[in-house]
Amino acid sequence: MTTVQRIFQVDGKPFFPIGGQANNSSGFNDQESETAFKATKLLGGNTLEIPVYWSQIETEEGRFDFTSVDCLLASARYYDVKLILLWFATWKNGNMDYTPVWVKTDHARFKRAVTPHGKDLWTLSPHCQANLEADKKAFASFCQHLKDKDSVEQTVIGIQVENEPGMVGADRDYGTDAQVVFDSPVPTIIVAAMKKYGKGPIYEQWQKAGGKKSGTWPEMFGWPAGEFMCAWAIASYIDAVAAAGKSVYDLPMFANAAKMEIHKVVKRWMIAGETYFSGGAVSKVIDIYKWVTPHLDFIAPDIKSTNAKSYESMCAVNSRPDNPLFLPETPSAVSLFRAIADYNLIGDFFFGIEDIIAGDGTVRPEAQNEVDTLRCVIAAIPLILKYQGTGHIYAVAEEEDIEAQLLDMDSWVATAVFVEGGIPNTPTDWRHKSMKPPERKNGMNRARGLVFQVNKNEFYLTGIGWKMFFRPKLPPEKMLDATYVSDYWQTKLIHQVSVDEGHFDLKGDFIVDRQRSGDAICGGAWVAPDVGLVRVILCD
Ligand code: DGJ
Repeated sequence: MTTVQRIFQVDGKPFFPIGGQANNSSGFNDQESETAFKATKLLGGNTLEIPVYWSQIETEEGRFDFTSVDCLLASARYYDVKLILLWFATWKNGNMDYTPVWVKTDHARFKRAVTPHGKDLWTLSPHCQANLEADKKAFASFCQHLKDKDSVEQTVIGIQVENEPGMVGADRDYGTDAQVVFDSPVPTIIVAAMKKYGKGPIYEQWQKAGGKKSGTWPEMFGWPAGEFMCAWAIASYIDAVAAAGKSVYDLPMFANAAKMEIHKVVKRWMIAGETYFSGGAVSKVIDIYKWVTPHLDFIAPDIKSTNAKSYESMCAVNSRPDNPLFLPETPSAVSLFRAIADYNLIGDFFFGIEDIIAGDGTVRPEAQNEVDTLRCVIAAIPLILKYQGTGHIYAVAEEEDIEAQLLDMDSWVATAVFVEGGIPNTPTDWRHKSMKPPERKNGMNRARGLVFQVNKNEFYLTGIGWKMFFRPKLPPEKMLDATYVSDYWQTKLIHQVSVDEGHFDLKGDFIVDRQRSGDAICGGAWVAPDVGLVRVILCD
């Protein structure tokens, strides 16, 4: 049993936010955001992630205009969805695009990070106090506005502070102020944490560089010292911004990281500032982030890859006792189900929600696959909230060249059969006679789903492209041979009390929408994205 840190709450109850993130320009006004809200409803999502721009709310220093924020609040209430707002400010994908004009143009006051060759980057320096104070002030005003306008309704359930911070073009700021820091002793908070935890990439690099008791960044860490200092400076900066906001309105806040460092396409991942944003919370430096960001509720990875190995390694890095896993912009890959079952994912979003909706308001065919995946998860939210951490949720995730997956569940064993081409020869029902199996192209559209065991003989299934055969887990000498689980008629040897399709109502009761019987249960318990949950009750 693992305690799941449910950061998000609605009406005082644990909440699993799910939906999409709007495209970058959608937060400016109602005209821009409308499609994002409509698409969220079409998906069946409960939350929209959408940006708020420092450049828009403070066009003149000290004068704030929150019209765009008010539009988002009004639309979210109209469409009955929650909001997670993304604070696009000092950093947006490692650059300063969303800072106000008066920041961009006052070069002397708002210092930029500098390359080793003395060239300014299009990134504010994390070592410049004026940058931090300006961002803090704007963020605190924004949070005060949310408090004034939303503390009763609580439409906004969280804020992402900045977006994919870091810098491109250098491993660290080489400006004068930054150089002083680089040549000064590593802060005691870092040294104390390394001693306290005694493991992890930062600790290991410290040991590799000689494990000195104290010293400058290069003395303590050697080659990656620049990236480590950059991570410390940026993380501390973001934490100070979050602290300024939380001091006026205590919402859940987090930072995200572009997990480009092991993207399957990026092979040269060693070079911070070249192939990925230096100073962002990549795997190597996530410890530093955790040590210096007490005002952030978690650090979230933006996983770009649908490759199971990459995706799950990111989940493993970010799901830790001091950091619940949350995915602010990640493709709805097959591994999403592993993130839920094995890594206690607490919320999930993909990027570009508007892209799912066609001109006539239906789902665009290219997006159907991703929409189906999320709808399966959405149907299971009450079960996810109840059973995460109990060991009773199992992911079904077809990996390359695997035809079936065996689940060992107390007194039952079950086989999820994928079979090349989907679920052949499976009696379904007339609605699903022509059900096409997923085209198994990549990590987005193989067989996938979840199985919940809610008591000894009761299971809930959700997913796409597989069917499940159960068999009692008897003492070995009494187990029948393996054909038991794959033959059409042999399923009669499993005593099925009932197989029902349905959904949970607001009270948490399971409502049966359709009963399956006869042929529809002879060929295994099959799943489909449009049936909601399948409840299977068995008996001895
Ligand atoms: C990651 C960024 O965080 C988003 O704002 C957006 O630019 C996407 N990439 C685009 O794919």
